[in-house]
Amino acid sequence: MVIFGASGDLTRRKLIPALFHLAGEGCLAPELQIIGISRDSIDDSEFRAMLKDATAASAEIPQLDEAAWNAFAERLHYLPGDFTEADTYRRLSETLSHQPTANRLFYLATPPSVAPTILLQLAAADLNREQDGFARVILEKPFGHDLDSAQALNAVVAEAFDESQVYRIDHYLGKETVQNILFFRFSNALFEPLWNRNQVDYVEITAAEPVGVGHRAGYYQESGALRDMVANHLLQLLALTAMEAPVTFDADAVRDKKIEVWRSITPMTPEQVAERTVRAQYSAGESEGEAVAGWLEEPKVPASSRTETFAALDLRIDNWRWAGVPFYLRTGKRLAHQVTEIAVHFRHPPMQLFPHEEALTANVIVMRIQPDEGISLAFGVKQPGGERRAVPVSMDFCYHAAFGDNPPSAYAVLLLDALRGDPTLFTRRDGVEAQWRLITPIEQAWAADTAAPLPGYRAGSDGPTEADALLARNEHHWRAIADNVGACAR
Ligand code: BG6
Repeated sequence: MVIFGASGDLTRRKLIPALFHLAGEGCLAPELQIIGISRDSIDDSEFRAMLKDATAASAEIPQLDEAAWNAFAERLHYLPGDFTEADTYRRLSETLSHQPTANRLFYLATPPSVAPTILLQLAAADLNREQDGFARVILEKPFGHDLDSAQALNAVVAEAFDESQVYRIDHYLGKETVQNILFFRFSNALFEPLWNRNQVDYVEITAAEPVGVGHRAGYYQESGALRDMVANHLLQLLALTAMEAPVTFDADAVRDKKIEVWRSITPMTPEQVAERTVRAQYSAGESEGEAVAGWLEEPKVPASSRTETFAALDLRIDNWRWAGVPFYLRTGKRLAHQVTEIAVHFRHPPMQLFPHEEALTANVIVMRIQPDEGISLAFGVKQPGGERRAVPVSMDFCYHAAFGDNPPSAYAVLLLDALRGDPTLFTRRDGVEAQWRLITPIEQAWAADTAAPLPGYRAGSDGPTEADALLARNEHHWRAIADNVGACAR
């Protein structure tokens, strides 16, 4: 495995801890070697020491076992090199020629601007050739910043590698609870008959983060919440929630069904963008008990920034199953808590036979992606006592109670799939383009609308009031972000 960007954040925080975990589980072939490439002039032992520190600090490895690390570190090698120079690839080719197998997995843990260069240089050095073994490449998002740039990037990818060799990573798909959406839907006969416009009133998909942008303000300023989270992770959650059952569980059958969902959503006109989307920026407030600055006061953020740190959309899937059912998506930085969840709200009973608590709502299935992973079903029961009153209760599946453990890291799952050659959980070329086809008109309408300042929301809140109004006009409402906190806490 060859990692471009070997001294970067992703390699240190995610990839190496994930590979170390896989080695500990006995999932890596004994002959697998990991070669890191970057421009820093360090040697193998400095490279190993740097990665050891990073792995020990990783939340995914609670306690670093010295002996296990030493055995794993033997697999780590470093090759200094400039990604733009042919000589780097000549030296890489030479190194690879001494490996015991011809299987190669290239990981581009690099800024997006250098991806085309690396891909074309790999091809020029013949490293894309599948001779006596596989040659696969893993690409990290962003896959372009709009439809045109995504198509241009895909064209370069296709010039260098066959689509069957390409693994576009969306780490949400590696999360155990995201994979569980399809298992929940299609391994039970109970829920699927309800999963349609006749029974479902609306669906909420929330990815709320209390964190700000840390040292990534430069990237985020260009990207914003819509490109950073909605264009990929949230659209994936939407597709898994709404897709039809695939004919089989093989990679293309599953990916075809997801793409059908995106293609069933009509891209918005500028008028629809004005009506059915909300963007906002956080202002100063509190995050996890500490006072924090507003977006416009963050270092490296221009005072004139119109980048959204919060986005909410009302999307409609125009097909037989979902016509007329709103799918509300929202995400933002500096929100009240960390919660990623999908809430499927069912229609109210046709008549109200019992007086009920104000809090009693219709039935809701909540799939909690993180943290405190689980699934809950809310329903009404009789309140004990003489009064005939209905109250809401919840039936909970908690991941840790059922399985006794934290789910494995998404990167571990996806790296193993790429090594095994299973692209089910990776985004296909046409999938990326279908996602941008929906997002680009929203970006364009937002960019053209420069009249008013962006709405604000206080850091540490549930988001702007405009997002509440988006649902209120359909007599719907968001679940409070705190609703889910502690539901399955350990
Ligand atoms: C990344 C985004 O893709 O996902 C980040 O670029 C975001 O801005 C992150 O914080 C969230 O991932 P997770 O796994 O922590 O939910």
